[in-house]
Amino acid sequence: MSNALRKVTVDALTEKQAASELKILAAEIGLHDKAYHQNDAPSITDAAYDALRKRNDAIEARFPKLRRADSPSKSVGAAPAGGFRKVQHTVPMLSLGNAFADEDVTDFMERVRRFLDMDGNETIEVTAEPKIDGLSFSARYEKGQLAVAATRGDGSEGEDITANIRTIKELPDFIMGDVPKVIEIRGEVYMTKDDFAALNASQESKGGKIFANPRNAAAGSLRQLDPKITAARPLRAFTYAWGEVKGMEWETQWDFLQTLKRWGFPVNPRTKVCRTVDAMLKEYRTLGEDRAELPYDIDGMVYKVNSIGLQKRLGFVSRAPRWAIAHKYAAERAQTVVEDIEVQVGRTGTLTPVARLKPINVGGVVVSNATLHNEDEIARKDVRIGDTVIIQRAGDVIPQVLEVVNPDRKGRNDPYKLPTKCPVCGSHAIREEGEVARRCTGGLFCKAQAVERLKHFVSRDAFDIEGLGEKNIEAFFTDGLIESPADLFTLKSKDLEGREGWAQKSIDNLLAAIARRRTVSFERFIYGLGIRQVGQATARLLAHAYGSFDAWRKAMSTAKDKESDAYAELTNIEQIGESVAEDLVAFFAEKHNRDILDALAKQITIEDFKRPDTSGSPIAGKTVVFTGTLEAMSRGEAKSRAQELGAKVAGSVSKKTDLVVAGPGAGSKLKEAAALGIKVVSEQEYLKLIGG
Ligand code: IVH
Repeated sequence: MSNALRKVTVDALTEKQAASELKILAAEIGLHDKAYHQNDAPSITDAAYDALRKRNDAIEARFPKLRRADSPSKSVGAAPAGGFRKVQHTVPMLSLGNAFADEDVTDFMERVRRFLDMDGNETIEVTAEPKIDGLSFSARYEKGQLAVAATRGDGSEGEDITANIRTIKELPDFIMGDVPKVIEIRGEVYMTKDDFAALNASQESKGGKIFANPRNAAAGSLRQLDPKITAARPLRAFTYAWGEVKGMEWETQWDFLQTLKRWGFPVNPRTKVCRTVDAMLKEYRTLGEDRAELPYDIDGMVYKVNSIGLQKRLGFVSRAPRWAIAHKYAAERAQTVVEDIEVQVGRTGTLTPVARLKPINVGGVVVSNATLHNEDEIARKDVRIGDTVIIQRAGDVIPQVLEVVNPDRKGRNDPYKLPTKCPVCGSHAIREEGEVARRCTGGLFCKAQAVERLKHFVSRDAFDIEGLGEKNIEAFFTDGLIESPADLFTLKSKDLEGREGWAQKSIDNLLAAIARRRTVSFERFIYGLGIRQVGQATARLLAHAYGSFDAWRKAMSTAKDKESDAYAELTNIEQIGESVAEDLVAFFAEKHNRDILDALAKQITIEDFKRPDTSGSPIAGKTVVFTGTLEAMSRGEAKSRAQELGAKVAGSVSKKTDLVVAGPGAGSKLKEAAALGIKVVSEQEYLKLIGG
């Protein structure tokens, strides 16, 4: 259907056809993106992909209101090659004066009155808007279309972040209805506290950068040269001001905010109009009380004279308006003493240093622990036991140590060193090159990680033990029924009798399910161990290379010597790099793991790897390269079928290549094959060759 529609030019499409095609395009482009980014296996040529995107953009340009929430144009564009382009703000982006005490607010209103020559009897309306702790941006819309977006920069010149702003779903790319010729919408990009915590957790498990607070996370995400990274980050926005505007006026700030809402921009729902200083202060206090519960960080309340006419009369002093002020909340920071530094082991084995503090009240919450993130952060801040430090609490986020108050003070203890043994299980804790985290290698043995490992062990792609879900694993572990995988196989009916929710029938079913897995394929066994970086594909490679558990176990123990043949053999396996090799070696170097492995091997039968029968395969032992678009099968499928037939699949053409399978759109690889005189066949010919 999509191809049939695509024969119609964009100009000739009916609205209904356009809507239907946009839906198909979103799904289709989404699939190609997934194939490319997640599976590393492009499913179409770059040219064909670009054509789809162009078509999508053209239809959207003609029917702006049909633009879908999942439109591909909301996600990535191409990453700029160098840094950000600079953008001049036609109307400068100003800052605000600050008020801290209630009197500062009273003074502000008196200044306004004096300037306008208004006495105390005349009401001056003021909007009270939460001051979002994010990053300000300005997005310029021309004829309703987002043209360029920039950071604040120094107020006169910012950086072009158009591609990144486009990835924020809350900000429309088109505004419809009664739209001025030009309008710059200004606001704040932020990240919610929950999204920030989730992002940090995922960064931590990937060994990526840890952000200090939601604002830094939002900044780091917005200032990415590659908008694909920004697109993957949960950024949000609130809008509250305009810069240049041509062809529209408002009487009040409140009216302007209503227009923003009508156009589909996010406006903070806690915005109010106040008519007296008392009302302003009341809003400030109410918001302050709710501050910790708000899903995002705020650092104050912004008051703005509501009437635009009065704003114009008031004008500016230096770089701040006379008609607005920021009433700040006390920074949620405090000073206290680090009484100890302890190390926590996360469920994935990451060692996290935590400062135990002399309890202190920070913004209404008593804080006695603060995270120190990792050993690089401790070293950077040089935090030592006994130090006086500044801590900061951002909403419900775990408090953190910002800095040591007096780093030169005499009598400081020795620099803190993260232990190289896991404080929970005593196994080696290692830090791999390029990673910030130090990790415990005693995965199966370590109590901090055991539950996660057991869940993985019984999961579908590993031992696949039916009826043993995550909740059961947790309960069995807590009650001491199972500590390590081998315990599953010694579980008896009487261990489970009398447990709530376990009738005899379900006990029998579970024990039968466990018994069925007493014999397991070698690759499932390897995968089930949950060794870092050893997923299903790597488990299969290892099973293929070593054939049997005994051979593998022996080889892995010998491979700890990097000069050994066993290590060379391991890293020679295609697709197993040094980093995976290191994780394997580290796993076997840990006696706790070997003990667990041996206990498990005693309980079960690990089948030798069944080598696919490649006798009679026309491509056995040959090196094959696939290029261009394959039509009958996906890249992944083509690859695994070729491997099953005993071939090696390479990514590039070289003298060692025996056969190149080329689909439409094949480029340089075809030329290289011709130059080297390597046989090239079409996908159809190839399928015939391998027998369908
Ligand atoms: S109005 C001339 N309104 O606070 C008007 N600013 O300290 C200038 N901010 O640079 C801004 N929430 O990044 C305004 N509701 C709000 C705001 C807000 C946060 C930020 C903005 C500004 C900074 C000034």
